Amino acid sequence: MSEQKQQLEKILTDAVLELSTADEVKLGEIEVRFLGRKGEVNRILQTMGGLSPEGRAELGSAVNAVKQKLEAAIAHRRTALQAELVAELGSREWIDATEPGKTALAGHLHPSNAAIEEMSALFEMIGFRRERYREAEFDHYAFEALNMPKNHPARDDWETFFLDAAENEKMGKMVLTPHTSNAQIREMERRRPPIRLISFGKTYRRQSDVTHLTMFHQFEGLVVDRGINLTHLRGALDHFAKNYFGKDRVTRLRPHHFKFTEPSFEVDISCGLCNGTGKINGVSCRVCKTGWLELGGAGMVHPNVLKMGGVDPKEFSGFAFGWGLERTMMMRAGLNISDIRLIYNNDLRFLNQF
Ligand code: FA5
Repeated sequence: MSEQKQQLEKILTDAVLELSTADEVKLGEIEVRFLGRKGEVNRILQTMGGLSPEGRAELGSAVNAVKQKLEAAIAHRRTALQAELVAELGSREWIDATEPGKTALAGHLHPSNAAIEEMSALFEMIGFRRERYREAEFDHYAFEALNMPKNHPARDDWETFFLDAAENEKMGKMVLTPHTSNAQIREMERRRPPIRLISFGKTYRRQSDVTHLTMFHQFEGLVVDRGINLTHLRGALDHFAKNYFGKDRVTRLRPHHFKFTEPSFEVDISCGLCNGTGKINGVSCRVCKTGWLELGGAGMVHPNVLKMGGVDPKEFSGFAFGWGLERTMMMRAGLNISDIRLIYNNDLRFLNQF
């Protein structure tokens, strides 16, 4: 028994000595060598066979005592090594490659700009060319050349802002474009038919309430060529409606009056919420009430307007349309925004929804 005790003491002394200089790898090796299942401490237990029952009990408790001391010494060394490591890392700059990266906050296009890009692509798909025309325009292009002579009462509908600028003898006063229809004359002056124009622009009217903006956008379409008729207009409108709003949506033309088109129409699209019925579960649809939503105006270009653009109405005919961008995009979202002015209030809580 005394021989085993001596061996145990030697094991403990050797292990403690080795532990004092052990690094993390060596620590693992020592643990296995001394305390492992087939380690040096357990090997002593195998010699129990030749001992008396009292001797076995004594050896058992001696082995346990050495095991506990060794475990404590190993744990102590491990804690010391970790403390050293933390101190070392703390004293130099280091990168934790496992730490999740910081993502930069990415903005997105304003819903109006996103709508312009999307709508434009749909018209460009069927051969329209995108052009941009002036926002500050002569009376001539905004009204006169569009068959709306001076003092014509129809001009009142456009509630125009006049600019404090010198009047041009031929072109008249300057205005902030109240609609994008000036693009019709500008485009005809610029290139000869065939013309397929889509033009987005800022428009201004002296209006501001929950359904009207002072500054809003319109997009103007103009097609002039030989043999253009109403079916071409319908085709272009349906192409837009089905691709922008969804294949089940249909448009309808309602007779209307504009001085620059003849015949003239208001274009409606079937409501996506109630499927054109005007009712949901027997209750009036909150978005449209009638089953139809108004998109904007359209018609066949008036011969006088063609003439003003330098195009011979005997040879060419054309169609045009002009819609409000904000109302069109709100309609797709099926939104009944309580106040259209929210679109330009720069409130991120509103804008981030799009
Ligand atoms: C016109 O401006 C015509 N130039 C449209 C046109 C073009 C007809 C080519 C025929 C041929 P209107 O005034 O109805 O028409 O305006 C067209 C659309 O602009 C309206 O249906 C509406 O969607 C939008 N709109 C008009 N005023 C405002 C406003 N204050 N705020 C927001 N949208 C508006």
